[in-house]
Amino acid sequence: MIKKKGIIISFEGIDGSGKTTQIECLKQYLIRKGFSVEIIENTRISKKIMQILCDPELKEICPKTELLLHSALRAQDFQEYVSPVLNSGKIIIFNRFLDASFAYQGYGRGLDLKAIEWLNMFTVGRIKPDLTILLDLPPSEAFKRLEKSREKLDRIEKEELEFHNRVRKGYLEIAKKEPKRIKVIDATKSINEIQEEIKKIIEEYLNENKRRDVRTSLIKTLIESLKSLSLILRLRIYARR
Ligand SMILES: Nc1ncnc2c1ncn2[C@@H]1O[C@H](COP(=O)(O)OP(=O)(O)OP(=O)(O)O)[C@@H](O)[C@H]1O
Ligand SMILES: [Mg+2]
Repeated sequence: MIKKKGIIISFEGIDGSGKTTQIECLKQYLIRKGFSVEIIENTRISKKIMQILCDPELKEICPKTELLLHSALRAQDFQEYVSPVLNSGKIIIFNRFLDASFAYQGYGRGLDLKAIEWLNMFTVGRIKPDLTILLDLPPSEAFKRLEKSREKLDRIEKEELEFHNRVRKGYLEIAKKEPKRIKVIDATKSINEIQEEIKKIIEEYLNENKRRDVRTSLIKTLIESLKSLSLILRLRIYARR
């Protein structure tokens, strides 16, 4: 099993919900605060797999192939890029991660959620994000934004509105199951308002993490002191004999 020291934050949401925009702002903010940040990007192989997944010509890709290709690219990125940085103590940011398979291929395409859970585990082991920011936006709104900013839409972005509605609902279902990890943000707000909410959530998480570290180190010190005390007592008893 891979162990990690750093913090993993993932951003989730439908296409055009503002993930890239917010990740970029957050990266700058965290660097200004002195953190070391790694934004996970696709490797050489996963870029090629992504090209197949996004190609608008390849309409016949079936849901299982879609799921397996996403898992394949994740497995490659994990082995080649993510696992070496897990122990670096950095803040690691994913632009979509494991939850996306549930939302897109599970809720969106109707594949079995248990099978996806197994596949996710097979791909990355027990690793899960510590914190997930879900940018929630109606697909109709997201499309207006994408139409303004993109010349061409990819295969998934071209899917009908109903598909994106199912994905959005799926994300919200997943968030309900894990409210402590997944924080839902109303992405209809302005870029700045959203960024402020994200900073607040992350600061709270980091502070709580710091308190947890202090508690753990106090408990360790206490245990060590008790061990020393018990040794002294035993030596005294032995000396009296
Ligand atoms: N809160 C916002 N209000 C208005 N426009 C926004 C907001 N956030 C992002 N945008 C704009 O919407 C477009 C899509 O944003 P962005 O690329 O960050 O979304 P995304 O979730 O990364 O999309 P994709 O999943 O397709 O990569 C961009 O033109 C961006 O400037
Ligand atoms: Mg993006």
